[in-house]
Formats: sequence, structure tokens, C-alpha cells
Amino acid sequence: MINIRTLQAPDRAPIAALLRETGFFTGKEIDVALELIDVYLKDKNQKDYLIYVAESDGREVAGYVCYGPTPVAEGTYDLYWIAVAPRFQRHGIGKQLLSFIEQEVQGQSGRLIIIETSSQEKYGSTQNFYLRSQYELAARIKDYYRAGDDRLIFVKYLHHHKT
Ligand SMILES: CC(C)(COP(=O)(O)OP(=O)(O)OC[C@H]1O[C@@H](n2cnc3c(N)ncnc32)[C@H](O)[C@@H]1OP(=O)(O)O)[C@@H](O)C(=O)NCCC(=O)NCCS
Repeated sequence: MINIRTLQAPDRAPIAALLRETGFFTGKEIDVALELIDVYLKDKNQKDYLIYVAESDGREVAGYVCYGPTPVAEGTYDLYWIAVAPRFQRHGIGKQLLSFIEQEVQGQSGRLIIIETSSQEKYGSTQNFYLRSQYELAARIKDYYRAGDDRLIFVKYLHHHKT
């Protein structure tokens, strides 16, 4: 069982550690992820970055997700980061974090979630994760990150049920 809650200052170090442990992110990418965490922690009034942590029964930080409204678009949200510590992977935590933010976005009358990732072979599991979560590949920008490393854009349109 996990509990999903808002990010607090003591979560910063465990998140830095789990981002490193995944082996998926460069030092620069981790710096950017931590910058967003710092924005979130320092400015309680900002609404650009919303961050939630998945906490295990033993109160460990098992994973986290960072998303926010896409500037200038209406009802569109970007998922900026999602990561689960290797020892907690394949237990459905990523799926729970993703469906949690989908509910949040829906609650804010959002209609579209965008996720970007790399085409590198090591991201095959990540791509599978998005596809299994009903995201569709909407675009591919060839050689975006570097030669041979494309930018993949996954999308999910949320359907609102009128009551
Ligand atoms: C992608 C990630 C967040 C998934 O989190 P997770 O908690 O392991 O995922 P879940 O257990 O909820 O898996 C949901 C489904 O995704 C797919 N999936 C997840 N990890 C997979 C893997 N390593 N290989 C193949 N499919 C995978 C499976 O279909 C899985 O369902 P199943 O376990 O019933 O087969 C996690 O693997 C991770 O942190 N990866 C490294 C960082 C990363 O790539 N982040 C995204 C880029 S910003």
C-alpha cells in the first residue's frame, strides 16, 4: 500500500537519491528536476508545478510526480517528471501516481495531458508504461535530444462525464 501526498521539504534528498538510482537521468536532468522541486517548496503561491509523493507503509519516498498546467493553453497539462525508486518499481506505484494526477487534472476541468520522453532503447520500459496507461504516441521529433535520440510526445485526452 502507498499513500499519495503533497511534497514536503524533507522529501528533496530522497527524491534526488531515487532519481540517481533509476540510472535513467543525466546529472543535468536531475538538476532540472530538483529546480522544479525548489520552486515548489520556496513559493507556496506558484501554480506552475504541482508535486506529489508516493510514500510506502514504512514512510519511505517510493516515487514522485511533477506536473502542471501548460502555459498559454486551456485545459492542457504537462507531466514533467515521474519516477519510482528501483526497489519499488513494478508494484503499480507509477500507475497509481499517473491515475492520481489524471483525477486531479480532471477535477480542474483539464482535458489533455502531454508527456514527453526519449526514444532511447533504455526508455522502452517507460514507453511501455505510458502505452499501458492508455497514452498514445502523438508525435516524434527525430534527433531532438541528440542525433539518433528522438523526442516522443505521448498524449491522453480526458473525457468528462456530464452529470
Ligand atoms: C516508468 C516508471 C515511472 C514506472 O513506474 P512503476 O511503478 O515501475 O510502474 P507500474 O508498476 O505502475 O507499471 C505499470 C505498467 O507499466 C509497464 N511497465 C512498467 N515498468 C516496466 C518495465 N520495466 N518493462 C516493461 N513494462 C513496464 C507494465 O505494463 C506495467 O504493468 P505490469 O507490472 O502489470 O506489467 C518507473 O519504471 C521509473 O521510474 N522509470 C525510470 C524513470 C522514468 O523513465 N521516468 C519517466 C521519464 S520522465
